[in-house]
Amino acid sequence: MRHAYDISLTVNGEAMTAHVEARKSLVDFLREDLSLTGSHVGCEHGVCGACTVRVNGEVVRGCLMLAVQCDGASVETIEGLSDTGEIADLQDAFEKRNALQCGYCTPGMLLTAQELLANDTAPSRDHIREHISGNYCRCTGYHAIVDAVEAVAQARAGK
Ligand code: FES
Ligand code: FES
Repeated sequence: MRHAYDISLTVNGEAMTAHVEARKSLVDFLREDLSLTGSHVGCEHGVCGACTVRVNGEVVRGCLMLAVQCDGASVETIEGLSDTGEIADLQDAFEKRNALQCGYCTPGMLLTAQELLANDTAPSRDHIREHISGNYCRCTGYHAIVDAVEAVAQARAGK
C-alpha cells in the first residue's frame, strides 16, 4: 500500500512537484512543506475559515482538502494574492478601519471578501455579513470587517 504520492501543481503561479503523504491536508502541506504560513489552522474541520485558500479559482477550506487532491491544480494563498496586489485595497481598508486585531482570521477573511466582491460589486451589509459568516473572528466583533469590505466595494465601483 502506498502512503505517499508525487503530485504536480502550481502554487501562487509557480509550478512544482511534491511528494506528499496521502493523509496530509492541503493547509498542512502549504504550511509545513512550503513554509506558506499565512493560511492558518483553527478548527481543522471546516468550521472557522482560518485555512481558506483558492484552488482553481474557487475558495476552499484547506483543512478539508487533501494535498494529493491538488494534483494538477492551481493553488493560491494569501501570500500569492498579496504579492500580485490583487487584494491591496482590501488589506489597506482592513488596516485603516481596524478590521483586524490578532490577525488570525484575516487571511481567510480577505480571501472570502475578495470572492464576494468578485461576484457582487455592490453587496449590502447583510450580504457581506452572510458571506463572511463562515469565517470566525474572535476579536473584532465583525462590524469593522463589514465596514472595510463595504468601503472597498464602493471604492471599486468608483463611488
Ligand atoms: Fe479549516 Fe477551521 S481550520 S475551517
Ligand atoms: Fe483575531 Fe479575527 S482579528 S480572530
